[in-house]
Amino acid sequence: MTKKKILVLTGGGDCPGLNAVIRAIVKAADYNGSYEVYGSIEAFNGLLSKPIDIVKLTPAKVGGIHVKGGTIIKTTNKGNPLSYAHQQKNGEIIYKDVSAQLIRTIKKEKFEAVINIGGDGSQAISKALYDQGLNIIGVPKTIDNDLHATDVTFGFNTAVQIASEAFDKLVTTASSHNRVMILEVMGRDAGWIALHTSISGGAEICLIPEIPFKLENVIKDINKRYNKGKGFVNIVIAEGAKMDGQKIGKSEKGDANIKLGGVGNHLRYALEENGCEPDVRVAVLGHIQRGGTPIAYDRILATAFGVKAFELVNKKQYGKMVRLKDNKISSCSLKQAISKYKQVSRSHYLIKTARQTGISFGD
Ligand code: F6P
Repeated sequence: MTKKKILVLTGGGDCPGLNAVIRAIVKAADYNGSYEVYGSIEAFNGLLSKPIDIVKLTPAKVGGIHVKGGTIIKTTNKGNPLSYAHQQKNGEIIYKDVSAQLIRTIKKEKFEAVINIGGDGSQAISKALYDQGLNIIGVPKTIDNDLHATDVTFGFNTAVQIASEAFDKLVTTASSHNRVMILEVMGRDAGWIALHTSISGGAEICLIPEIPFKLENVIKDINKRYNKGKGFVNIVIAEGAKMDGQKIGKSEKGDANIKLGGVGNHLRYALEENGCEPDVRVAVLGHIQRGGTPIAYDRILATAFGVKAFELVNKKQYGKMVRLKDNKISSCSLKQAISKYKQVSRSHYLIKTARQTGISFGD
């Protein structure tokens, strides 16, 4: 019997749990018996390269990968088929929509369906390809936890665990030196990682994009604590936090999002120049938050997402994204999946939890 072919790809920034999804899809397809699974290397680039770069994913090939970070089929945030970079003979880069060519290749290779594991940008691409007739399913991933349609994304809790462990280490050095220690974490325009880390670690100050902060308030908070005789302060700052309304980042050609990073040092120098007496030091956690083995929760969630994605393919329920909603694995339309960005609201129970346990937001 000829088996039906499923194509899997991972797009956007990597995130702990991607391999667990890939393994679950392959295992569920094998358990069903009527399908075989392939992976496109480096998201859609594998399909768009000549010759195409695709690997067969057998149960043997994915054995044990759920405990590994990264993605065995690689990823990129520079391979959007709707705006694909082409280098001209004169070196100039122009961007073209190659989605029709991409869909032709997928059909020519006789893939029944595509499963696209990615964040909001990747799911916007899934939606556009679905609208052009491609049988596609989305699986949400991101350490940022900023996808509205799902209660949580795998990778997020691993990132929080990594950030919390880093925070705990900074507390002992801050307290030994009576210093102000700033930990800069990722999250793009959402403060979920910073908020969770601040509560988990017991920060004095938590600075997130959703609550713009004033430098003078942060200085007041630091002084208040030093005046009480407590000689150290631990601050968690999200990379997208806005100091006095300003976001710190850099735009790069061909990249959908501005590159964030640097706000921790920006805050340090502003504190030093504006009369903050204690010594200030900064640790930028960066991509460490995305690396290494996923924690058990993320392995389980990613595995459940993979199995659900296969089920949707088997039932031909295309144009959907799997999700965790009200503690149940379900799905929603890709349209709904990308309709809203999930930021921390000021009325979220964790903001209240933080404030009432003495954490300041500098507002
Ligand atoms: O979206 C995940 C994320 O890690 C963000 O938190 C961060 O701003 C961005 O990706 C970094 O992207 P890159 O890996 O391209 O530097």
